[in-house]
Amino acid sequence: MTAIIEAQNLIKRYDGFTAVDDLSFSVAPGEFFGLLGPNGAGKTTTIRMLYGFSPVTEGRLRVFGLDIDRDRRAIKARIGVCQQDNTLDPDLSVEQNLLIFAGYFGIPATEARHRAGELLDFFALGHKKDAKVMALSGGMARRLILARALINEPDLLILDEPTTGLDPQSRHQVWEKLAALKQRGLTVLMTTHYMEEAAQLCDRLVIVDHGKILVDGAPPDLIARHAGGDVIEIEGPDQALRDHIARNNVAHDDLGRKLIVYTTAESDMNTTIRNNFCTDRCTFRSSTLEDVFLRLTGRELRE
Ligand SMILES: Nc1ncnc2c1ncn2[C@@H]1O[C@H](COP(=O)(O)OP(=O)(O)OP(=O)(O)O)[C@@H](O)[C@H]1O
Ligand SMILES: [Mg+2]
Repeated sequence: MTAIIEAQNLIKRYDGFTAVDDLSFSVAPGEFFGLLGPNGAGKTTTIRMLYGFSPVTEGRLRVFGLDIDRDRRAIKARIGVCQQDNTLDPDLSVEQNLLIFAGYFGIPATEARHRAGELLDFFALGHKKDAKVMALSGGMARRLILARALINEPDLLILDEPTTGLDPQSRHQVWEKLAALKQRGLTVLMTTHYMEEAAQLCDRLVIVDHGKILVDGAPPDLIARHAGGDVIEIEGPDQALRDHIARNNVAHDDLGRKLIVYTTAESDMNTTIRNNFCTDRCTFRSSTLEDVFLRLTGRELRE
């Protein structure tokens, strides 16, 4: 089966600065694929190359089995993109934003109105059809951007931080819609800084830092491999605990005021710490994708 996306040794340089540094990954039909990484990791740069907005410096990029340099127009016609920034036209109505976009794809007017109606209903925006975009809340605007990305009935949906800035209600609503699209077999590539979102939606993901892939895998496998299975957070740890951890060579992060210990459910470390080393406050929890992300990309601020 032809991969939907096939990136081989992809490189993007800006005046000598390497933003994407030898990325190789592929996305299969129907897969929900995550591109994660700290600010400045190169996610948006990669996405821009994927939809033909920014030329590839080096490497090979094929989408739907076609070469991005040679068949850019054919590829673009089959992709839906939700960019990181809000690119809606504020002076137009909700429906007009969709119709104008449909025009870019050469969709006939009657068909465009039909699709716009269906998409507005799907994203619970039907009642806002004639409202000006300026009058929409952030969550509604995001949903409209998603609706617009689907107007050409794409085979690949590309989402650059689709839920950034949304309240929990709006975010959960978007997740439901994205899960429904995934159910229908749509192939999706998404970036996000919300690890819970990635863990819920992505079949597979890569974590990128400084333009390079650090890991690739399904969220549960990455969690098991890189963050044990259980985590203990000890606030105000004492020296005895630090000595115990060092003696037993246990995976951990020492943040000074807090010690984070990565264990597995089978390990008796949990009991030992619970009984002997819980000082100010101890939290026992399952490890998450956020633990994996922080362990692999560190805790230093970027940019
Ligand atoms: N047009 C450009 N010219 C020069 N440098 C650029 C350009 N676009 C991006 N960069 C740089 O490339 C790097 C990667 O940027 P990119 O926007 O791809 O990061 P990102 O992973 O999407 O980050 P964020 O999570 O903040 O959106 C950054 O260091 C950025 O400053
Ligand atoms: Mg970005």
